[in-house]
Amino acid sequence: MDISNSHYDNRHVATLNDPEEIHSAMRAKCPVQHSENHGGFWALTRYQDVEAATRDTTRFSSLPTITLPSVGAPRPFIPMESDPPEHSKYRSLLNVVFSARRIAELEGEIRKHAVQLIDRFAAAGEADLARDLIFPLTSRVITWLLGIPDEDVSRFSDWSLALVSVTSPEAGAALQMEIRDYYVRLIAARRENPTRDLASHLLASTIDDRPVTSEETLDIYLSLTGAGGETTAAAANHIFTLVDRHPDLRSQLQARPEILTTAIEEFLRYVTPVPGFARTTTCAVEVAGTVIPEGERVWMSWLSANHDAAAFEEPATIVLDRKPNRHLAFGAGVHRCPGAPLARLELAIMVDEVLRRIPDYRLADPGAVRISEGQTRVIRSLPIVFTPEP
Ligand code: HEM
Repeated sequence: MDISNSHYDNRHVATLNDPEEIHSAMRAKCPVQHSENHGGFWALTRYQDVEAATRDTTRFSSLPTITLPSVGAPRPFIPMESDPPEHSKYRSLLNVVFSARRIAELEGEIRKHAVQLIDRFAAAGEADLARDLIFPLTSRVITWLLGIPDEDVSRFSDWSLALVSVTSPEAGAALQMEIRDYYVRLIAARRENPTRDLASHLLASTIDDRPVTSEETLDIYLSLTGAGGETTAAAANHIFTLVDRHPDLRSQLQARPEILTTAIEEFLRYVTPVPGFARTTTCAVEVAGTVIPEGERVWMSWLSANHDAAAFEEPATIVLDRKPNRHLAFGAGVHRCPGAPLARLELAIMVDEVLRRIPDYRLADPGAVRISEGQTRVIRSLPIVFTPEP
């Protein structure tokens, strides 16, 4: 493969579906690769370089956008698209969403909802795991966090899927507007009549000794919409695909349920549902002997880093009890994913319940599983067959 032609495309289906062939060559021969795509950018592929850049918010800024190509949002996503010191002010507003107490409160609800969803298809002998369990569950969790009324839940689920799959700035901007209008109405209603939801909490909070504005509340809602649902859904879809492809993984999970926690972590490393995000250099930066000029876009490939043999022994093998496992699937440094504990919980519950209720499920057509082009390595559909519950 020619990796010197500068045509690396972080969003191309080939990169998302078969990343190892491309990334291993880049790590070995050209770990800091310039690409002409998306207006020109640099791709970092080695663990050491990717991790260092992710942590270095001074030289690698999250402004003006971390999406590559840009999804065309009218305002930055916060807290993702902010740098210290502003970042920590925004991030602390979110503590309430991700507190250990809040997650413990949600655990019972998530389990109950997973069981109800599986109840609907367990006797049928066939289902689409993505459509019937994964997307409804992951988007329901976000609606709980945001306080979306029950009647709007399915609309919300359609939006969140479309949001991570947009391929042009125009399509992204149109979708953003639709979601935005909905949230604007919700936030205005909470300003009039506060409830116990997140919007009401944010509107009653302060930042730099002034009240949080409706616009900032809106920005946070838009960020959580994109960040929380489809990422976890992508992880789940990949996990169930891998368990089908590797019968030994299924037997290990069934024989040793105590490895579920490390197993989820290892699946996240192997899959890396969010394959990377971009930064912009604030000055000329030398990385592995290559000087990246100021003002350049840099793609940090967490997906490639998580398969770097310099950081992980036998990276191509899924080792369910791998320890240590310092993967970058949730990023690193100040922007490290605050939703990680929640995502882990959702994934553990889904794997646990599926293997308990439909332990012999198989993909109906393994060759048809495709990863869609987008910010996240999304699998949209996962038809399965299994022995029906009596
Ligand atoms: C398996 C599922 C998930 C994956 C793989 C994932 C991945 C990531 C990554 C890689 C980042 C770092 C972005 C950067 O450095 O620019 C991030 C940030 C973030 N994630 Fe997640 N995420 C997941 C689930 C969630 C969930 C469930 C939520 C919320 C409910 C969430 C909310 C956020 C937020 C708000 C940020 C921005 C943090 C900041 O900028 O300080 N994520 N996520």
